Amino acid sequence: MSALPSNPSESAFAPAVSPLAVSPLAVSPLAVSPLTRALFAQVQEAPPDAILGLNQACAQDKNPKRQNLGPGVYMDGEGLTKPLPSVLKAETRIIGRDRKEGYLPIDGNPIFNRLSQELVFGKSSSLVKDGLITTVQSPGGTGAVSLAAHLLKRIVPSASALISDPTWPNHRGIFAEVGFPVQAYPYYDEKSRSVRFEELLQFLNSQPQRAIVVLHASCHNPTGYDFSESQWKELCSFFATSSHIPVIDFAYQGFKENLEIDAAPIRLFAEAGIPCLVATSLSKSFSLYSQRVGALHVVTTNKGEADRVLSQLKQIVRAIYSNPPAMGASLVAEVLGDSTLRTEWEAELTGMRERIAHMRLDFVAEMKKRGHSFEHVAQQYGMFSYTGLTAPQAEELRKRFSIYLMSTGRVSIPALNKQNLTYICDAIAEVVTSVR
Ligand code: LMR
Repeated sequence: MSALPSNPSESAFAPAVSPLAVSPLAVSPLAVSPLTRALFAQVQEAPPDAILGLNQACAQDKNPKRQNLGPGVYMDGEGLTKPLPSVLKAETRIIGRDRKEGYLPIDGNPIFNRLSQELVFGKSSSLVKDGLITTVQSPGGTGAVSLAAHLLKRIVPSASALISDPTWPNHRGIFAEVGFPVQAYPYYDEKSRSVRFEELLQFLNSQPQRAIVVLHASCHNPTGYDFSESQWKELCSFFATSSHIPVIDFAYQGFKENLEIDAAPIRLFAEAGIPCLVATSLSKSFSLYSQRVGALHVVTTNKGEADRVLSQLKQIVRAIYSNPPAMGASLVAEVLGDSTLRTEWEAELTGMRERIAHMRLDFVAEMKKRGHSFEHVAQQYGMFSYTGLTAPQAEELRKRFSIYLMSTGRVSIPALNKQNLTYICDAIAEVVTSVR
């Protein structure tokens, strides 16, 4: 069929139509066979993401009082997620430079990789100096966990992945997507509000050799309850002989006590000589959420292994997204590599951590005024509180008050501020009384 107007008078009166405006390849849908057309017919609707789906649901809510207590994103006292001043200064410097727009290496920005490695393992770490740690820049902490899963699929393809009960839902999603069977290990006891440590060890002991065990280094997501120092030591001795493979998710460095103390469990494992995979996020500590800044660190036992692991990771990255985006990593490298900016950033991170801790105390005090004990909220660490609110209570908060939180009762504490605290606490007090 010709793409040109068939009626010669059209060309005289209508504006000229480019012959390219209508594709010469256009075919009638009737020419497509039913089987061909049916490609997506059986596709089922997937449920919205348990965490990020709340952003969309809340944004669509017309209630001007709506509150999103879902995703773990830091917000300041005004309820805003603003760039950190140190990062803005780094941005000005970077933009002022002669920019080059080629691809980053497959494994990412080498300066960022070195600095993020030092942040996790310590500048004086002999493992870092001896080149035993392989680091690959990743698209956020999720990207780092995903790279870990892909790498392990090449090394221990028939292993099971064990995740904490409960955990960040994406742990299951990521390991299942790569093709591992996923099981939960005992972690949190709701009644005593503590870690089920003995049961966890028994469970791990009962597993076939070389299971993948996903641990949270600090600020356990979602419960906010971590292993104690002595439990980490016991775990370390356990992993030294068990043959299980630790994958340590470290998304919240600096949100518990400080950069150094939070990294202690990882340094313990690494310095004990236990091969492990550490997934880190810098999106959170630098408030660079949409830039997706993270890194996967693989702790090996010799330089040859480290190099070969790197070669495998590069092949994986190349096949999934080729190479990582540049800007977020440049900003982080600029801040970490400059002593003045780094000092400013550490103070900003301390400010975020302290605001979260204060909001926990304010929340507990407000709930107490209303006759409800939520003392446990002040005993948890990190962005999240496992409030104990039930799924029906979370549902009621959404329906009646436009307050959005996970059905597990997890609340992102930085979403609380002095302006919304009364509304949220009134609503929770109402719902815990009326919905059991
Ligand atoms: C969260 O748990 O809310 C964050 O880690 C954001 C995410 O990606 O789920």
